[in-house]
Amino acid sequence: MKVVLGVAGGIAAYKACTLLRLLTEAGHDVTVVPTASALRFVGEATWAALSGRPVHTDVWSDITEVPHVRIGQEADLVVVAPATADLLARAATGQADDLLTTVLLTARCPVVMAPAMHTEMYEHPATQANISTLTERGVHVVPPASGRLTGKDSGPGRLPEPQELFEVCRRELERGAAPAHTDRPAAARPLAGRRVVVTAGGTREPLDPVRYLGNRSSGKQGHALAAVAAARGAQVVLVTTVELAASAGVEVVSVETALEMEHAVLQAAQDADVVVMAAAVADFRPAEVAAHKIKKTHGSGTDGAPDTSAPDVSLVRNPDILAGLVAARGEDSAPVVVGFAAETGDDSGTVLDHGRAKLARKGCDVLVVNEVGSGRAFGTDDNTVHVLRQGSEDTLEVGPATKTEVSEAVWDVVADLL
Ligand code: C5P
Repeated sequence: MKVVLGVAGGIAAYKACTLLRLLTEAGHDVTVVPTASALRFVGEATWAALSGRPVHTDVWSDITEVPHVRIGQEADLVVVAPATADLLARAATGQADDLLTTVLLTARCPVVMAPAMHTEMYEHPATQANISTLTERGVHVVPPASGRLTGKDSGPGRLPEPQELFEVCRRELERGAAPAHTDRPAAARPLAGRRVVVTAGGTREPLDPVRYLGNRSSGKQGHALAAVAAARGAQVVLVTTVELAASAGVEVVSVETALEMEHAVLQAAQDADVVVMAAAVADFRPAEVAAHKIKKTHGSGTDGAPDTSAPDVSLVRNPDILAGLVAARGEDSAPVVVGFAAETGDDSGTVLDHGRAKLARKGCDVLVVNEVGSGRAFGTDDNTVHVLRQGSEDTLEVGPATKTEVSEAVWDVVADLL
């Protein structure tokens, strides 16, 4: 595919080198169009060497080829990363004072812009109004990440990681042809205006200040579900036990135990349209949490020698968060509830048999059944799942696919239910 990588003059221009690499390695034909100030951060030679193509910034080079029209017209995708406050303002007002802005006016393909700047500039009403204008015209604006900025300060304004931007580009290219300024918004952002809650990771149930009962869930599937929902326009709360980076624009609530997760989910679910329970919630927790580390030897036996026997740990049941959500729903059956189930086949039935029984038992709308065991699912980047729907005999098979692709399939099913 023909991709135009526009680079505006911000320090994050260096991250666009990695994005360029990812795009070319994926087989795309990338033309880099930096602004004049972008070249003060990363020079023309770097862009030319990495893209394998000549680089222009002004409309006066190779005039016989009419580059200011041709580059935009031929593009399958234009991505601007970083998009500075100045570039957003020029694009929003339709200016055409350099090659990148003329490309933006002539392009009829999907356009992605990733703003990056200081928090004050990003939050200024002028910048926000420009972003709204561009979004209304169908530009996919990727919200900036929060974190350390160029100086000592931190806040929203960081360019999201190149891999994340690459994923957005990949999805836009897949979605394809609808022009950026006509009917794309609804088609490209099917979850726009929806509030969704996603849980991720395995809960940790403490035994003492040092030890916990846990499980092998990596949280990758939950984080991918949150990223895809955000890219499709949803307002996302991600309740997670893991430290994995969250996609830009996703509100993260960090928790550790099942009880903390329950509290966070019930709070966030109050005005949610969808809750996706991808977390591996521990069914049991230790009945008591020791205030101090449990010692290898404890007390002393009848003969005065230290007692080296293993302590007994008694467990109590954790609440089933998903079942609680389903039970608390009113007549409108909102929110849509999606469960995940890790299953293995055994003598009493196949993975699908167990999945169907669980869907009936839990009463949720969708159950995504993961086949686990023999190196599958946990911590890997690929996954094979069966998506089951309440009241339907059909099974949607997805995979082997990346966790992002699985997420896309799950959100497609959910979008049908909304
Ligand atoms: O019953 P099982 O643990 O296999 O069900 C898995 C589904 O139920 C997952 O969606 C998981 O997040 C959810 N669950 C829950 N609370 C629990 C146990 C599981 O919400 N205590």
